[in-house]
Amino acid sequence: MLSLNTTLDELKLSGIRRFAAMAKETPGCISLTLGEPDADTSDEIKAEVAADLAAGFTHYPPNNGYDFLRNALSKHMALFGKHYEQHEIIVTCGATEALFVALTSVLNPGDEVIVPTPAFTLYESIITLNRATPVLMDTSDALFQITDEMLESVASQRTKAIVITSPNNPTGCILSEESLAAVARFAKKHDAFVVCDDVYGQLVYEEGYKSFAVEHSQLRDRVIVCDSFSKPYAMTGWRLGWVAADESLLSQMAKVHQYMVSSVPAFVQYAAVRALEESVAPARGVYSERRDVVLRRLDEMGLETVRPAGAFYAFPSIREFGMSSEEFCTRLIKEARVALVPGVFFGAEGFVRLSYCCSMEDIVQGLDRLEGFVSGLRA
Ligand SMILES: Cc1ncc(COP(=O)(O)O)c(C=O)c1O
Repeated sequence: MLSLNTTLDELKLSGIRRFAAMAKETPGCISLTLGEPDADTSDEIKAEVAADLAAGFTHYPPNNGYDFLRNALSKHMALFGKHYEQHEIIVTCGATEALFVALTSVLNPGDEVIVPTPAFTLYESIITLNRATPVLMDTSDALFQITDEMLESVASQRTKAIVITSPNNPTGCILSEESLAAVARFAKKHDAFVVCDDVYGQLVYEEGYKSFAVEHSQLRDRVIVCDSFSKPYAMTGWRLGWVAADESLLSQMAKVHQYMVSSVPAFVQYAAVRALEESVAPARGVYSERRDVVLRRLDEMGLETVRPAGAFYAFPSIREFGMSSEEFCTRLIKEARVALVPGVFFGAEGFVRLSYCCSMEDIVQGLDRLEGFVSGLRA
């Protein structure tokens, strides 16, 4: 009898996409669902691709990426205190592939990976596809921070890695120095890898952001950094990212990348260098302004929100309404024509994710509608 890979039965299709589609099908609905910058990629970056196609960049590039791009990435990371040589970097198809490469290269069937929740669902799917087990560690009652006790409560002989995301999707929160130190102690004690999803690392609006790879560089033999062009440079459609790790890990990781995608396209790699030359400050300014509006309004309507310091999300609590986040978001679309994403899709019931990477007009109108809906529920 024909049968497919049974691990696929365990994977769910993206709930975020489902709610975004529901918003689209509802006339006049304002969608605050997707984590995709509303801005287009800059003309300078786009122009580079046209020039490179004309110049004949149409052949197989080196598997791990052209040296000029890996060199630019090495310098770019160094600006943020992350020191990885060119040969310790692989250019990937977005952070999505970077995370696949990172986790596939360390996991054996039956291994466990700690995923602090709320979290981006991709991690769970990759871990499952590797026939390993995601161990969800709820941080929602600890202001989305991590402690030694939490980590020890989910540790086992099979613990192989932990994935951390700072700033986080869906909360926008950054991990404190204490949280990072707890992760470092744990990784050392349990010989665990630390996969750092740093895709929002350039989108931070407050002081105090620390990167694990910088703060705990002495653990570099077990740290894998995944990053992306998608969010800071509005390049989601380019599918460009990178993974960086100590050279002792890189040759095995390169095999995963080679057999999965061979390489990223040749003619986008100079454009990627151009992107690294651009300042993210203007985008940061825009998001920071939007965040302030979102936070002020959520506060005024009495929706408790842990202050997000980065990314482009807020994750208010809806626990007071005593309904599931899916019911809350479905009713919100139907009754108030504004779409958010249920927290349950990130492993955190009792919350909703509001994405503010859309126009200020949509944000303000969406928040007006949310306020009306919430007032109605309380009445
Ligand atoms: C936390 C996080 N990691 C990784 C990704 C994937 O990014 P990319 O577009 O680079 O594949 C996303 C996209 O939403 C994300 O939010």
